[in-house]
Amino acid sequence: MSTQLGHPRVHHRLTDSTNERAKALAVSGAPHGTLVTADEQTAGRGRQGRSWVAPPGSALLMSLLLRELKEGDAALPLAAAVAVCEACEEAAAVRCAIKWPNDVWIERRKVAGILVEGRPQDGWAVLGIGLNVRTAPEDFPEELRDSATSLGLDAAPSVVLQPLLDRLSARLAEPPAAVLAAWRERDALRGEPVRWADGEGTAAGISDGGALVVDTDGGPLELAAGEVHLLR
Ligand code: BTN
Repeated sequence: MSTQLGHPRVHHRLTDSTNERAKALAVSGAPHGTLVTADEQTAGRGRQGRSWVAPPGSALLMSLLLRELKEGDAALPLAAAVAVCEACEEAAAVRCAIKWPNDVWIERRKVAGILVEGRPQDGWAVLGIGLNVRTAPEDFPEELRDSATSLGLDAAPSVVLQPLLDRLSARLAEPPAAVLAAWRERDALRGEPVRWADGEGTAAGISDGGALVVDTDGGPLELAAGEVHLLR
């Protein structure tokens, strides 16, 4: 991908969802690399139909329009998760891991989430990232307090933006095999007992297509989508 990521940039103090704004810009012809950021969202969206909530000014809320995609580019969400880990580690004294498919964890708590939306048939995708930068534990909604964390920085969320764009540029340009190797090094679930909607097993890594491989009593299975939870 040749164009610099992050240009043009539209920043909203308050918006519904940066993914929604970026998708509207995509439909109206905005170029590859267009970035939408916000201090606060009223309708932040997460995976699996969930919402994404962050106190105003506490998280990096961003959506990047990517064109020049290969059809069905399975490596995009994986590359994004690796880049988020790297940017977090550059900005703060933390070590990040990835919970399949692309939650970024610090010590088994979620610091960032990734939501890719788009129209593959039209050759574009919106890469949405929510990264908790300075959220105090007591500022998370009560139901998230045990499972969410932040970088703990005493700085504006935008301090992580340029490191993240740099890491994304590098990882998105890599061949899928290199992305997969980097993702596998950060796999938080490998060897762990997990459960999902229809069963239980032991996580055994990801396939080259990005599916979660689980060893079960009935043999290995590949989970292509959905949610898994740690059993311990
Ligand atoms: C998830 O883990 O469920 C994905 C969360 C993605 C949240 C980000 S915040 C910026 C962008 N705009 C949205 O509405 N969602 C993504």
